[in-house]
Amino acid sequence: MKTVSIAIDGPSGAGKSSLAKALARELGFIYVDTGALYRSVGYQVLKRGGAPSDSVFVKKLLPDLKVELKYIDGSQRVFVNNQDVSDMIRTPEVSMAASAVSAIPAVREFLFDLQRETAKKNNVVMDGRDIGTVVLPDADIKIFLTASPEERARRRFLELKEKGIEASFEDVLADMIKRDYDDANRQTAPLRKAEDAITVDTTGNTFEQSLEIIKQIVQERLNERSGS
Ligand code: DC
Repeated sequence: MKTVSIAIDGPSGAGKSSLAKALARELGFIYVDTGALYRSVGYQVLKRGGAPSDSVFVKKLLPDLKVELKYIDGSQRVFVNNQDVSDMIRTPEVSMAASAVSAIPAVREFLFDLQRETAKKNNVVMDGRDIGTVVLPDADIKIFLTASPEERARRRFLELKEKGIEASFEDVLADMIKRDYDDANRQTAPLRKAEDAITVDTTGNTFEQSLEIIKQIVQERLNERSGS
């Protein structure tokens, strides 16, 4: 039977991962956090002493990396060469490294099949930057999540604080604005809304309000789909 794919794209801090995760849980779908894949590559580059923007270094490294997604107790874990790196890839340093490696076309190609195959085999809620435009252009439902830069930085700041990662709000906001710019202006698969995506602006919403809006969109679309 054909699987169902829900693509959720948008800038960092718009609430994609927490909303996508909650939505997947409600629907009984798999949640695929594609940012974690770029983070795992960025992390490996840093670990091996390379510069994430050095495309020659990064390209040379790719054949040595075996990146896998596993689902343990319903949670996504990313493995690189059989090591679970899921907890090490959340630092601000790895965020910047992920953004830099994600601008290298060879990295995007390297991670493409894994994302496509996962969606082919499972019902997925997949979040990222280019899911509705490049990875799953035929996704059943596409949502573009956004919020103001200040609100997104505030959320990311609180998230880091909760995890015990030191950072100032000003630095988080500056990083956010730089990453937004880089992600939207790179040549390969820049962040942009798919024409057939529905925009949801989460500024000022509680998590529950945003989840409710998304659930309604998804339910309507799934009903249309089963009725047609
Ligand atoms: O969603 P995130 O913050 O974990 O993503 C980390 C970086 O990876 C982000 O700066 C952009 C990049 N990325 C991407 O280019 N394409 C995706 N589908 C997901 C993330």
